[in-house]
Amino acid sequence: MDKDPKVILSQFLNTCELPETDARITDFNMIIFGGTGDLAKRKLLPAIYHLFQTKSLPENFSIIAFARSHIETDEYRSEIKAAIANFLRRDIFEERTWDDFARHLHFFSGQYDRPQSYRELAKNISEINGGQSPTCAAIAYLATPPGVSRLIIETLGESGINEKKSFCRLIVEKPFGRDQASAKKLNRLISRVFNENQVYRIDHYLGKETVQNIIVLRFANGIFEPLWNNRYIDHVQITVAESLGIGSRGAYFEEAGIARDMVQNHLLQLLALVAMEPPIGFLADFIRDEKVKVFRSIRPIKPEQVGELTGRGQYGEGENGNETARAYRAEDKVSPLSEVETFAALKFHIDNWRWAGTPFYLRTGKRLKKGVSEIAIQFKQPPLRLFGRTCEQHEPNCLLIRIQPDEGIDLRIGVKQPGTSMKIRTTNMIFNYKDAFTIKNLSPYERLLLDCMAGDQTLFVRQDAVEIMWSIVDPVIEGWRRQPPPEFPNYDSFSWGPRSAEDFIRRDGRNWLLCDSD
Ligand code: BG6
Repeated sequence: MDKDPKVILSQFLNTCELPETDARITDFNMIIFGGTGDLAKRKLLPAIYHLFQTKSLPENFSIIAFARSHIETDEYRSEIKAAIANFLRRDIFEERTWDDFARHLHFFSGQYDRPQSYRELAKNISEINGGQSPTCAAIAYLATPPGVSRLIIETLGESGINEKKSFCRLIVEKPFGRDQASAKKLNRLISRVFNENQVYRIDHYLGKETVQNIIVLRFANGIFEPLWNNRYIDHVQITVAESLGIGSRGAYFEEAGIARDMVQNHLLQLLALVAMEPPIGFLADFIRDEKVKVFRSIRPIKPEQVGELTGRGQYGEGENGNETARAYRAEDKVSPLSEVETFAALKFHIDNWRWAGTPFYLRTGKRLKKGVSEIAIQFKQPPLRLFGRTCEQHEPNCLLIRIQPDEGIDLRIGVKQPGTSMKIRTTNMIFNYKDAFTIKNLSPYERLLLDCMAGDQTLFVRQDAVEIMWSIVDPVIEGWRRQPPPEFPNYDSFSWGPRSAEDFIRRDGRNWLLCDSD
């Protein structure tokens, strides 16, 4: 009997045969709302250009920038050409590729709140598609501030040009709401206009190669998973440190703070990937179901517990070699009395069978000593200190997942130092991406855009997840609001953050571990 060609035959899998997924990139029209904005120029269009350059896009596609400005397509193309040449990641800008790419790029001037503009847009798209009503995927990318995005979704619905079919897709950028109530409201609005299987909520951390590798490390290797639980793991640390300040985003950051900007999304997503159970398969919802189960198991930090379970900080001025940094309160569009946090450390308990009793410590901050994102899985000491009488206590094993910038994985192990005495030294077994692979990683935006074009929602945040993630962060923010910090700024720029963050982990007899932390 002939085999179904779509079935992968594997020499390793004798018990089952895996069907191939159907994800394929088909022709598309992408409308970028806010097509003249910062995000479009810095990230989206350079990513799309690079995908075109590497021949990852289908033959027929169009990018239509929708914005309020009154400019012609030619003028828009020259603006974008300059932006791409400036922000392109690492490949050299090529004039010839640009000329071919530019033909796919169009500009449409319209009003976000006028259904008529959307109907004209639909006509415009059909002209671009040779007078036919487009049959290919239509992707609406909201690269607009949250207030404007809400308006666009509403008006898209009123204009009737959206279709509740999976080929019509919506990409929504963060911030997705500013608390659980507003996130729910936004989700309700979206669900009036789109089905959930059309909605792609972006968390760009999920587009990072090293973040996707967490699942592979855990579930494609037989040696880690048996130890991946409260019996063998003492605790987990997740650090996302940045040496940059808030730059020109003062107005946004005054509203957000680091808890909304980083913890509610990127750090909780990392936590979920470390803590989740094996999914029953590699389909979007199987993985997203497991993540949601983790979020549901996180024991909420009550507002009155923030003193015990969290630390927060705001950067003051500081120096790093030749670089000097001003304090957060002196940044543009920031109040000189601002109580907004630029650093947060939190301790979470996950109340499920696997993790009960193993805390997860999270920390993130701006203007820290260096920009580095790492996850440290700290194992317990061996059950019997066999070498206790003859040498000092040695460090327990630690698996360090280096997310960026120096991408890789280290396993810290104790080895006998050569010589007659039983001295133990900690050394590293090291895996570096740059040594193991010559293939260049896709940038997170390239990866996520490709997935959306292929209709694969795995790396996007589902409605229920985004709401539960807010319910984890909201009471912390509320606790901080009730007890305004008396001592801000409480850490120098280019330090490792405030003392309170050190103290709260030390109270548990632990320290922040960070590879090369000084
Ligand atoms: C964004 C935050 O989501 O992530 C920024 O809004 C932050 O404040 C950025 O700087 C960090 O991303 P990355 O990829 O540079 O670690």
